[in-house]
Amino acid sequence: MPRKVTINYRKTRKIIKVDDMSDWEIVAEFLISKMKPGMIVTLQGDLGAGKTTLTQYIAKQLGVTKRALSPTFALIRSYDVGSLLSRKEGGRGTGDVGRLVHLDAYRIEDERDLLALDLDEELMEPGTVMIIEWPERIDNWIAKQEELLKTKIEIMN
Ligand SMILES: Nc1ncnc2c1ncn2[C@@H]1O[C@H](COP(=O)(O)OP(=O)(O)O)[C@@H](O)[C@H]1O
Ligand SMILES: [Mg+2]
Repeated sequence: MPRKVTINYRKTRKIIKVDDMSDWEIVAEFLISKMKPGMIVTLQGDLGAGKTTLTQYIAKQLGVTKRALSPTFALIRSYDVGSLLSRKEGGRGTGDVGRLVHLDAYRIEDERDLLALDLDEELMEPGTVMIIEWPERIDNWIAKQEELLKTKIEIMN
């Protein structure tokens, strides 16, 4: 089933149609070109929209060799990415994004649960980009982060 992916990056909006799985690569490539340390990428969309799928494509293009599993049960996972890995290891060997943190906030019912996850610390680790599924669940925390470093993605299926 085709998806419509809307990317809100700074003052611009880009819409990419995802008809088949390989189109996620285009979305991932665009996002990676905008990534910088400290960035938060929020992924909004219903269950099954493709939030985890997109995260997996991003991880793959960044050179993560471990598979980016859906973090629904672990809530949060972090991966060292391409800029830390050499080209031989499948990384890009360039750039200053060195760490991808993937948070699935679906099961967070109370923002006090966030204390245990140390999100502020996670985001402050050098080179970190954070991808968040179900950002609606942690609106208050997201609102406190720097506006210029937020990229919002909506996936409609
Ligand atoms: N364009 C597409 N066409 C068909 N199936 C797709 C497409 N994009 C994603 N899918 C499938 O839809 C499902 C999306 O699941 P997932 O990424 O876990 O969603 P979410 O994390 O948003 O709940 C996966 O099974 C994936 O293979
Ligand atoms: Mg998911």
